[in-house]
Amino acid sequence: MSRILVTGGTGYIGSHTVVELMQSGFDVVIVDNLSNSSIDVLDGIEAIVGKRPDFANIDCSDYVAMAELFDKYHDIEGVIHFAASKAVGESVEKPLLYYRNNIGSLICLLEVMKAHKVKNIVFSSSCTVYGQPDSAHLPVNEDAPIQKALSPYGNTKQINEEILADEAHADKGLHVILLRYFNPIGAHPSALIGELPNGVPQNLLPFVTQTAAGLRKQLRVFGNDYNTPDGSCIRDYIYVVDLAKAHVIAVRRQLEKKSSEQVEVFNLGTGKGLSVLEILNTFIKVTGVDVPYEIVGRREGDIEKVWADPKKANEVLGWKAETPTEDILLSAWKWQQKL
Ligand code: UD1
Repeated sequence: MSRILVTGGTGYIGSHTVVELMQSGFDVVIVDNLSNSSIDVLDGIEAIVGKRPDFANIDCSDYVAMAELFDKYHDIEGVIHFAASKAVGESVEKPLLYYRNNIGSLICLLEVMKAHKVKNIVFSSSCTVYGQPDSAHLPVNEDAPIQKALSPYGNTKQINEEILADEAHADKGLHVILLRYFNPIGAHPSALIGELPNGVPQNLLPFVTQTAAGLRKQLRVFGNDYNTPDGSCIRDYIYVVDLAKAHVIAVRRQLEKKSSEQVEVFNLGTGKGLSVLEILNTFIKVTGVDVPYEIVGRREGDIEKVWADPKKANEVLGWKAETPTEDILLSAWKWQQKL
């Protein structure tokens, strides 16, 4: 079976993807510098799959260490590149760190791949590249215009997409799949892996589950005066396991050379927008646990509403996000209780 290198494979989306890859019969080697994840994640993966993935504690921007890894695992046929810093607020405070980490690591990875003749890469991108689409572009499909990034983090995603496209233009053997995620939430149904926020969660769902668990006093809902039915922001919340499965399909598509296009882009979302208050109320309803909250002012840089048109992924990849919101929220709660 083919071996896939997963950078950032002990992270949130990475770990769920490693599980799906291994369960589909792929051999995996994870590269992660554990800057925002724990080595214990390997135990969770092993408990689910019954086999421990190979792991190397390496920074993706360390060319020498990466080259040694590719020498050791000369059977690597494809790469999924998750490894990146991802806190929007921190990226505003420390832009150089974000540009160095997120861009430096991709450049190094592509150089090592080239030297080792590895020609397939799936890249972890984000709906953040669309900014706030105008109403004519909602739901957002892949042809919606890319807008100026609102943060250095968002800009690194845009720049990395461009680097990949430029390299594919120069190297006709390279195949790139850009996956633009909407808002990944939830945890593996086993509750053996899930999201491990570093410090105070910035994202909605970890804050909701920590508040439900009594770890936080109350949730702050950022704004109820948006131009949406209940006034709170709308996002497309996608189950992390559904998202992980899309990566397996993308990798197979590359290995089986199913596409003649060198660079393909797919939006990964459910196609359904939910407001902050809808998420909150559904969580309270399905778990039966109260979540104290207050409405506060808008969060700077927030987008009012965005949700995906996942038609291309549905039709071309034959992939669909199918898990009901209730089940996703329950998986997140089960994981929080485990923690
Ligand atoms: C954010 C980033 C996005 C990034 C993604 C990665 C911004 C503007 N966008 O997406 O670029 O790809 O994280 O995970 O930061 N909310 C609350 N209270 C909270 C937390 C969130 O009301 O305590 C609301 C937010 O205002 C937003 C929604 O919940 O309307 C979702 O927020 P979040 O989970 O942070 O995701 P995004 O902002 O969509």
